[in-house]
Amino acid sequence: TVLVVDFGAQYAQLIARRVREARVYSEIVPSTMPVAEMLAKGPKAVILSGGPSSVYEPGAPTLDAALFEAGVPVFGMCYGFQLMATALGGTVDNTGAREYGRTELSVSRPSSTLFEGTPAEQSVWMSHGDACSAAPEGFTVTASTDVVPVAAFENDEKRLYGVQYHPEVLHTTHGQQILEHFLYRGAGLAPTWTTTNVVDEQVALIRAQVGSSRAICGLSGGVDSAVAAALVQKAIGSQLTCVYVDHGLMRKGETEQVEKDFVAATGVQLKVVDASERFLSALAGVSDPEQKRKIIGREFIRVFEQAQAEIVAEAPGDHPVEFLVQGTLYPDVVESGGGTGTANIKSHHNVGGLPEDLEFQLVEPLRKLFKDEVRMVGQELGLPEEIVQRQPFPGPGLGIRIVGEVTRDRLDLLREADAIAREELTAAGLDREIWQCPVVLLADVRSVGVQGDGRTYGHPVVLRPVSSEDAMTADWSRLPYETLARISTRITNEVRDVNRVVLDVTSKPPGTIEWE
Ligand code: XMP
Repeated sequence: TVLVVDFGAQYAQLIARRVREARVYSEIVPSTMPVAEMLAKGPKAVILSGGPSSVYEPGAPTLDAALFEAGVPVFGMCYGFQLMATALGGTVDNTGAREYGRTELSVSRPSSTLFEGTPAEQSVWMSHGDACSAAPEGFTVTASTDVVPVAAFENDEKRLYGVQYHPEVLHTTHGQQILEHFLYRGAGLAPTWTTTNVVDEQVALIRAQVGSSRAICGLSGGVDSAVAAALVQKAIGSQLTCVYVDHGLMRKGETEQVEKDFVAATGVQLKVVDASERFLSALAGVSDPEQKRKIIGREFIRVFEQAQAEIVAEAPGDHPVEFLVQGTLYPDVVESGGGTGTANIKSHHNVGGLPEDLEFQLVEPLRKLFKDEVRMVGQELGLPEEIVQRQPFPGPGLGIRIVGEVTRDRLDLLREADAIAREELTAAGLDREIWQCPVVLLADVRSVGVQGDGRTYGHPVVLRPVSSEDAMTADWSRLPYETLARISTRITNEVRDVNRVVLDVTSKPPGTIEWE
């Protein structure tokens, strides 16, 4: 394991992902973890992340210098680099000379462990206020910038390395190469972590955990629950039953996809509950987004509990249903361990939001994985491309993509518009490029149009294509005009009551991805 010490601001997750892209397993630990505890995990290497602080700020996170004496290879990045420099006797000046964004780096030691085979001048991503002016004793300075005399250093004997910039971000042109040089050359690690290993390991763990007991799993149609279910199915076969609650807020073809494709690929036992009537009557008259989310969450739990009771009743007494499978991902785990006092922007509800008093033990085979890794595991398990590459879809479904009251009629309109947008994006080969493209029906807004020589007074739909790496931040996708034109023409021609298509050109922040 490579430990990534988290000094804040989401850099650690990105670093952990990049390490895994280099096929080396990595885990994130908080900077408050005592060094002895970190070392007790037996790390093969440690990476110190960047962070928003200055090493001179009172209360800024610190690190016990004992880490550098433990004989474990360490790579400090940005804030981690400055901590390393100060801890080992180098000089970091609080010059106020700031460097943010793309910067040119001059490599002075092209044959060094980190920089070998990379150009003498390279673009790197900086974000710092302090600058290192003298490396600690025994260290070689390997690169600089116009502003920072010591932008990278290394001590091969002690296997300690540092760079002032962020190798993990894409704007740093040779970032991944430098990270890999640290892992393979500096720390002597081999790229052996693969999805095949992950599957084998998880299958063994699930078997050991569940034993001869039984498990149930809520399927949402999304990637995470599908892959978690497929993994558990591979491990315990018919001891698993999946429950799919159709709340009537699904997109076109979604329920059928779960019923046919997923079952065909996995052979899983599936219980489908058609609860659309129940959800729609609970939602009648409600337009407030948070209220909608709460109602959908509540109804979901009720239906799920009912289904679960039925499955338990059918189970013979000597094989109790003790386990609940959840598709919890690593970012959820990291964030729920770290984040306190974060504002509740939206009450996120998904199958993972089931209440704790469900009295089950949890099976969470994806809790160490990032989304892209979950997709690779899904592929490895033979799930169809349409499921594995699915774009994220919120648990409350189309219910939060109708601005205004949710009715069956409006759902039908939105389902059609959404299906057209998806079809055209797929046809244009844009599925991988965009993160997702919500289609939103502005049901409470009307505008005048003219169609077939007559006046119409219909509703607009909004296209919200975004690109993102993790949905925490997003930018609006610059879709080709021809694709937008096709979507617009088809929606206004084919979907009754929709006479206008508009494009959302807001990034996140300030806008969230979904409208509600
Ligand atoms: P926002 O709208 O908060 O969305 O920018 C971020 C990502 O989360 C998805 N999303 C949800 N997923 N249950 C889910 O499982 C929810 O209640 C929910 N709300 C938003 C959204 O589609 C985007 O990918």
